Amino acid sequence: MCYAIPGKIIAIEGRRVTLEYFGEKREAIHELPALALGDYVYAQGGWVIDRIDPAEAASILEFWREQFFQLQATDLRLSRLSSEKSEIDRHVAVVFDRAIEELPLRDEELLTLLELKSGHELDYLYKVANFLRYKHQGNSCCIHGIIEFSSHCSGSCLYCGISTWNRELPRYRLTREEILEAVREAVEIWGFKALVLQSGEDPDRPIDELAAIITEIRARWPLLIFISCGEVGIPGLQRLFNAGARGLLMRFETSNPELYARIRPGRILENRMEQLRAARDMGYLLITGGLIGIPGQTSRDLLNDILLARSLRPDMYSFGPLIPHPATPLAKAVSPSSAEVRKVLAVCRIADPRESRLVVTTAFETLDETAREQGLTSGANSVMMNVTPDAVRPSYELYPDRAHARESISGQIDVTLNLLGRLGRAPTDLGTRDSRILGSSVPESSTNGIPDQ
Ligand code: 5AD
Repeated sequence: MCYAIPGKIIAIEGRRVTLEYFGEKREAIHELPALALGDYVYAQGGWVIDRIDPAEAASILEFWREQFFQLQATDLRLSRLSSEKSEIDRHVAVVFDRAIEELPLRDEELLTLLELKSGHELDYLYKVANFLRYKHQGNSCCIHGIIEFSSHCSGSCLYCGISTWNRELPRYRLTREEILEAVREAVEIWGFKALVLQSGEDPDRPIDELAAIITEIRARWPLLIFISCGEVGIPGLQRLFNAGARGLLMRFETSNPELYARIRPGRILENRMEQLRAARDMGYLLITGGLIGIPGQTSRDLLNDILLARSLRPDMYSFGPLIPHPATPLAKAVSPSSAEVRKVLAVCRIADPRESRLVVTTAFETLDETAREQGLTSGANSVMMNVTPDAVRPSYELYPDRAHARESISGQIDVTLNLLGRLGRAPTDLGTRDSRILGSSVPESSTNGIPDQ
């Protein structure tokens, strides 16, 4: 089983390459030795992760060819934007027109969109976001697997079910062997090309041990590895990058410093931002964003969240609803509605139509069974699948009744591919159409494809 379409190298300039598949062109960075024009590769998130034998590439491309154009036609049909705006307020219609024409929207205009209430206007908002997603990013949808390798956490975040507030939760820490086995299954059996390794801030798993595991994974499998283990500090980030991690999933949770300090006792926003910026400069791809529905959060805060995330030039945005956990101080918080979440996704896409991917979070899926379809038709183009071993998955309890906590991997894949097929999305992730994210920092380390020690 394979979730990516091979691309052919049509240009090489140092470590930057241009890939082509079915007429689509993408940019990526490579770390492979002796990569040549005409080679076929897999790329993820702008990184070339593996070279493939031309015969194998030809057969995979053959499998995709017909399907790909069918999917593209379906997406085109579903993403069309009608000009029918009769039930839309004149002032709002002007903002929509500016968004469609891609004139830069002022903060107040984005705020107007975030504060929309009427059904017709909301429907049009989602459509505009979906249209811009199609226009700039095509029908590709990336699928990342997530392995939650430890639920131990020394943090006391007021919202989080694996924080120190939850004394009842049985905790687990996967061993090196168990992590390697979970990765092996995800890559060799299920065909994942990008994995997120997530955990709480676990004081009993030294960074060097994690670095050694990442180095071993990179040596054994072609894979884009995102780390997501809270704040590991700038030296820790460098250590993990040198070990072979190439992405960081870390939300700043909220752009409002007071709110941040309130919900994350003992922490300050500036430290988190410093680490995000340092990671960006090291060459990490970033997935970042925040929580929607923190008590006391305003729509201006949400707008600032989107703008702060955008200022980091992320590879992917991740905004999801807060879902109260009964064992935390925010037990009585009220989750936002699906429309609130969808609105943030759509405005995020409108604020950054070209560059970044946008994920439908598991929290949104937990809030609403139809979240994936709602998200993917409001500007999103990425989904996560949970590939944590079954035995421990339910106890990674960030919030109750998490989506996919008890679904088999093959079941998740079937449901996902079905939905993507229906929406005309191709499960591919070859890189970026825009060289901007590649322009900022091409790290000079590890030029031979073997992670530094
Ligand atoms: N509801 C929704 N998301 C949560 N997270 C933690 N607790 C919750 C909750 N109760 C999210 C945080 C964190 C990510 C790993 O999980 O945003 O960054």
